[in-house]
Amino acid sequence: MPTKQISFLLLSLVFWPIAVEAQDIDPHALYERTCAGCHAAHAGEFVFETLEIRENSLVGSRSRQPVATFLETGHGGMSPAEVEVMVELLSKISQSGRLFFRKCRICHDSANDLARLKLVIRDGNLVGRYTGRDIAQFLKNHGRLDRDEIKTMLEVLEGQLVTKSEAAN
Ligand code: HEC
Ligand code: HEC
Repeated sequence: MPTKQISFLLLSLVFWPIAVEAQDIDPHALYERTCAGCHAAHAGEFVFETLEIRENSLVGSRSRQPVATFLETGHGGMSPAEVEVMVELLSKISQSGRLFFRKCRICHDSANDLARLKLVIRDGNLVGRYTGRDIAQFLKNHGRLDRDEIKTMLEVLEGQLVTKSEAAN
């Protein structure tokens, strides 16, 4: 294990008892507060403009360095708990949000905004906040998704809302 990683682990252990727990952090707010000043306004855009997957690892497309390593060495000035949250957010977006960018972004700015502004989870179902639409049903004829893609998309949109309500608790 490289020395940097070891010292990062030690640092995490030392700070663990007083560190903010990862689940208390709203990942999108964290991105907007800590990274958006120099990078894209939304985490989603940042992932698609700046990062790529190489050998199963999320890396910067210019530096080819894993994002985790990049942040652990101090870029962005995050605490270990924040780095964990950020890496998870960026990876999740990269895996599942690709679809949104390909098929929805022409008309909807970001999955995060769409979910936060227009959707709610009611009785375990994703519905339109103002339209009352069952979104699983709605997507069968909207956005040209196949069945698997509808499932992924529902997860992406629900994920945005779960993240938000957890952060509010
Ligand atoms: C003060 C400005 C600034 C802030 C704040 C900042 N960055 Fe950066 N970042 C840069 C610059 C400039 C580069 C390109 C030069 C370099 O590689 O260092 C960069 C490069 C990167 C890269 C590598 C991109 C590549 O193509 O290899 C990643 C990943 C990254 N930043 C992530 C983040 C994240 C995540 C945050 C928030 C925690 C953040 N940055 C905060 C200025 C910043
Ligand atoms: C060609 C433009 C266009 C594309 C592409 C598109 N949408 Fe839409 N979408 C709209 C418009 C316009 C509305 C509002 C229509 C309405 O409420 O009847 C809408 C409404 C929605 C709603 C319902 C919001 C509510 O309040 O009920 C959801 C959810 C949605 N879109 C998701 C998606 C997803 C996911 C994709 C990609 C797979 C997508 N859209 C692609 C234009 C588009």
